[in-house]
Amino acid sequence: MKFEDIERIPLTSLPTSFYKMSNLSNHLGKTDIYIKRDDVMDLAHGGNKTRKLEYVFADALSKGADTVLTMGGIQSNHVRQTVSAAARLGLESHIFLNNPVPERVKEMRSSGNYLMDNIMGASEYIIDGDDEKVAAEMTRIENELRTEGKKPYSVPMGASNGLGSLGYVLAAKELINQWEKMNINPSHIFLGTGSGGTQAGLLAGLRYFGNKTTKVIGISVSQPEEIKKQTVRDVLKQIHDVIDIDDTLISNDDLIVSGDYFGKAYAYPTDSANEAIRMLGEKEGIILDPVYTGKAMAGLIDMLTKNKLDNPEDIVFLHTGGAPAIHSFADLFIDPE
Ligand SMILES: Cc1ncc(COP(=O)(O)O)c(C=O)c1O
Repeated sequence: MKFEDIERIPLTSLPTSFYKMSNLSNHLGKTDIYIKRDDVMDLAHGGNKTRKLEYVFADALSKGADTVLTMGGIQSNHVRQTVSAAARLGLESHIFLNNPVPERVKEMRSSGNYLMDNIMGASEYIIDGDDEKVAAEMTRIENELRTEGKKPYSVPMGASNGLGSLGYVLAAKELINQWEKMNINPSHIFLGTGSGGTQAGLLAGLRYFGNKTTKVIGISVSQPEEIKKQTVRDVLKQIHDVIDIDDTLISNDDLIVSGDYFGKAYAYPTDSANEAIRMLGEKEGIILDPVYTGKAMAGLIDMLTKNKLDNPEDIVFLHTGGAPAIHSFADLFIDPE
């Protein structure tokens, strides 16, 4: 199918803003650094999942769904945006959550995304186990809801299937338009990569809409480079299954992931991310988070300042959201005593 023919239901006003971070650029003294503000959107507190959900919810509504189910960590930004979209469209939501950082259970269950899920009326299921166990419970409840006469629709983790990732194919078109207006052709875009849909969609979209040169650098937030690369490759394949994209548009060299910045594991803070969060706060008045965008920005700063990038010129940082989770990590920045 042609990309333009796939149904989409608007969930936010677009385009999101795009501008130069002059203070940060001067501070690092290497090249101009721009930011794409996908953290500012209409669904509760925004973030990258909103664009994906525009395609996923169009599909759910076309299938007559009245209830959505999804899964993630207790502080999942994806889950919060899914619950917000469901409330806005008048659907029930059931969310299946596990805790990636047992040491922070108290902070995670009393603030941020989890608090917002509750306020927006989601039915919550906390599962003590890994993602596989969470997915199994979600399937069990989906079947139960169907037996009760509901029309459930399950959204995969991160909405990172072929359909959801189209949100970032469209975002690529939006970026290309913004770059043309500003007369720039950025050498690199940085973003945090988890379930892979944002990176895969952005890369596919850039090449599909004619940009052949901008490198998309995914900073892994959870796994080593080769594993995460495979995740992005798998999502790219799923995008190909949904829309017609020339196979030769994306080469293996186009798939760039760094596994150097996630630290101990997913959602465990790192010093370099904490420093990046402070730097963006002080220089630009922008809030990043310790799980995704802080680590992605730490990667950008390190690679740029240590001259690890080929010919960097006009670098873009994709702010994918996530700031609500920072409240579960307040002790990294302030001492309440
Ligand atoms: C704030 C934030 N940034 C980045 C990502 C990663 O996006 P993706 O899962 O598409 O790789 C997520 C996903 O959960 C997120 O919440």
